Amino acid sequence: MSRRATGPRLRAALDGIPAYVPGRPAGEGQESFKLSSNENPYPPLPGVLDSAVAAAGSLNRYPDMAATALFAELAAHFDVPVEHLAVGTGSVGVAQQLLQATTGPGDEVIYAWRSFEAYPIITQISGATSVRVPLTAGEEHDLTAMAKAVTDRTRLIFVCNPNNPTGVAIGRADLEHFLDRVPQDVLVVLDEAYREFVRDPRVPDGIALYRDRPNVAVLRTFSKAYGLAGLRVGFAVAHAPVAAALRKTAVPFGVSGVAQAAAIASLRSVPALLARVDTLVAERARVAAALAEQGWTVPDSQANFVWLRLGEATGAFAAACEAAGVTVRPFAGEGVRVTVGEPEANDLLLATAAAFRA
Ligand SMILES: Cc1ncc(COP(=O)(O)O)c(C=O)c1O
Repeated sequence: MSRRATGPRLRAALDGIPAYVPGRPAGEGQESFKLSSNENPYPPLPGVLDSAVAAAGSLNRYPDMAATALFAELAAHFDVPVEHLAVGTGSVGVAQQLLQATTGPGDEVIYAWRSFEAYPIITQISGATSVRVPLTAGEEHDLTAMAKAVTDRTRLIFVCNPNNPTGVAIGRADLEHFLDRVPQDVLVVLDEAYREFVRDPRVPDGIALYRDRPNVAVLRTFSKAYGLAGLRVGFAVAHAPVAAALRKTAVPFGVSGVAQAAAIASLRSVPALLARVDTLVAERARVAAALAEQGWTVPDSQANFVWLRLGEATGAFAAACEAAGVTVRPFAGEGVRVTVGEPEANDLLLATAAAFRA
């Protein structure tokens, strides 16, 4: 056997995987706001923090791998059977488990593009092939084209509703029509990371849609509206075979006891948390209206961010924001996604956007 120092053989499927670009942290040296990761600007509610701190007292123990108490709380909250639930390290962790459960080399995964930047990464890691279907000119999912893109090799379709980074959401009639067209053996993942920010009544709740559709799984997270991004806990609601497959593909003990305790406390604090979400939704309306007033085209966002399709001006706009003390998320040559944050941050963004136009 050759002893040449070539290093261990790594899977060729990993070659060329795009790096996940995390939102840049707020700058240093001046008052600076991070509007680059769609985080919740509010610190944890006191009761949630207390629960997390209390759970930290048992850090010498492994967490409850079955997340029994959290499952019971989720089941009651969403009126779903416990066997229809699975948790993971953030909803991106659950998305990766879904791919592990359904795909391998030679299989195809369909999603809109541009959409959540983790989709191409986790698809490629699974060994499957991405099939990207461009958004329409109106920044919407092209569901007709996505349905046509299904082949015998399609195993999973991500539908990001509302879509990251554009914020645009799909209405009930369009989504149901699409689901009716997808073969029963293809898993459709409704990624609803921003569900709590949706105010358009035409946008369906995926948990209502999954109930009589065995090939639909809904992804939700505690990272955004619930403000627990740092604890990494997300979940799926899906029929029993899919949920069971998710338990098989989970990293053992992946969701910490601290995260489970904080998630339970959050579900018990829903009115207080949703009051904060209402404030952010009001800020979203204020930001979108002010940007439109300045002359920007702002797609209707149902999430906690807005999208500016700046094309070649993307880098310059992001740099202007950075200089002003607001970190945004640029997608080179395409546009900038700006999280709706605290009012001072939003004011700074609006002033920078106005100056940029001038
Ligand atoms: C559409 C979408 N899905 C999933 C996630 C993952 O969130 P988390 O892993 O924190 O639950 C994000 C985070 O940005 C997102 O935008």
